[in-house]
Amino acid sequence: MTPIFNTPAWKHAERHAHGLRDVHLRTLFEHDPTRFARLSVRWNDWLLDLSKQRLVPETLPLLAAFWELADVPGWIAKMRAGEHINHTEDRAVLHVALREAKPRAEVAAVLAQMRQFCADIHAGRWRGATGEPITDVVNIGIGGSDLGPRMATQALAAHRLPHFKVHYVANVDGADLATTLQGLAPRNTLFIIASKTFTTQETMQNAASARAWLARELGDAAVSRHFVAVSTALDKVAAFGIDPANAFAFWDWVGGRFSLWSAIGLPLALAIGFEKFEELLAGARAMDEHFFTAPPLENLPALLALVELWNADFLGLQSRAVLPYSQSLGLLPRYLQQLEMESLGKQIDRDGKPVGCPTLPILWGEPGTNGQHAFYQLLHQGGRALSCEFIAFKEADFPLPGHHEKLLANCFAQSAALMKGKTREEVEAELERAVPPAPSFLIPYKIFPGNQPSTTLILPRLDPFHLGALVALYEHKVFTLGVLWHLNAFDQWGVEYGKQIANSLLPMIEGKAPITGVDGSTAGLIAAVRS
Ligand code: F6P
Repeated sequence: MTPIFNTPAWKHAERHAHGLRDVHLRTLFEHDPTRFARLSVRWNDWLLDLSKQRLVPETLPLLAAFWELADVPGWIAKMRAGEHINHTEDRAVLHVALREAKPRAEVAAVLAQMRQFCADIHAGRWRGATGEPITDVVNIGIGGSDLGPRMATQALAAHRLPHFKVHYVANVDGADLATTLQGLAPRNTLFIIASKTFTTQETMQNAASARAWLARELGDAAVSRHFVAVSTALDKVAAFGIDPANAFAFWDWVGGRFSLWSAIGLPLALAIGFEKFEELLAGARAMDEHFFTAPPLENLPALLALVELWNADFLGLQSRAVLPYSQSLGLLPRYLQQLEMESLGKQIDRDGKPVGCPTLPILWGEPGTNGQHAFYQLLHQGGRALSCEFIAFKEADFPLPGHHEKLLANCFAQSAALMKGKTREEVEAELERAVPPAPSFLIPYKIFPGNQPSTTLILPRLDPFHLGALVALYEHKVFTLGVLWHLNAFDQWGVEYGKQIANSLLPMIEGKAPITGVDGSTAGLIAAVRS
């Protein structure tokens, strides 16, 4: 198939982009009072506002042509049929099968096991080795075996069960485990060792140290009552010493960064209760249905993907800030960094050739309003063009009087200011009105160029259902961009190289091998920490 950037539709979109290059967003709003209505899309009670993106209503159909040209519907069909679309690892990509209304037998069996386990822990039927109930769960995992349930546990703080705490440890830096264990009692603590491969260095080291911590106080025999595992490698789980009856399986057709819906979600299910975990699955299922059936111009994941394509390949933007105006959703940018950058941070296509156009911009972000007092200065006056993504909720998850309205006012103010900017004339008029009069040398400092594009997504509330739909929205956006760029979004070879080198350096750092075969800087650094 011809890559989309070699098609007449691409050239057409390039000419269109060229025509818009010097038009300021403020002008676009002035010239079209219907702009918001024409460039905002609703799905149920959600609103996706694209009117502050640097495009016009006529742009979207031009971009939507790529949906058919790249055959996104055909790739969706392949994914759902279980074809091995992760071709470099020869695997199917079936995370959507984890949240079907009537899941396949193997999925249903693990969901039933999770339901029973949650019920046993919450009812105090599952007890520790000394007969005491479990009050604290520590999930040990990293990347996809950490970020999804960690982000969702924080996001659903308002829905967590009281009197029961879930903690997350990921970093191999001992500070992560040591500080988490401070204040925990081994007799009331249960560890979940979550690793798809059960070989990841960080997780294995943290698991071994956690086991030693527990066994020091309760003895080795206690391990079986205090350790469970989530993995695709059940043989390795058994070799670690975890009773196979206490292992929760998932499958190689679930990518690590798409695994929240599998048993990797167990710590989340423990934190909010299994029924609410099922609501999360239902929300994702609703988004799946929408993605599979809606035409591209009404399809939220498709629109997010097409606008990203526009910004990256036609406007040359190199960065996107994800800015949830929700403290609870504060880990979303970090979660999306793995979901989007590990999936699409690639330059070689499915045929082994260079993709031929820029792929995913750098993704970063922080919750508002905190970010406003940190990096927003650069967004407003730093001279770098980038796209922002604001996410807000109609209702507060913690409705303290006076807070939510201020949060929303700040969110909408920022996207408006980034869009409009402030002209010299406006600054002059403002200074003239000032009492006492402000000195005129301040004028250039108070000018804002504006024209900084953004998307705003408004959801009704942050609950398990809507969070599930939100995460699935981004999963399908990633899928769509993978198809548009003709990339395999489901492998991650770029992560392997660093792991390989770390393994070869470890014996040198431990002093078990001479410092040889490394570059001068690395040799010097190792020598410095060994001395
Ligand atoms: O970061 C690389 C990676 O392979 C991710 O894709 C994965 O989520 C993470 O490591 C953890 O892997 P595992 O679940 O096998 O421990």
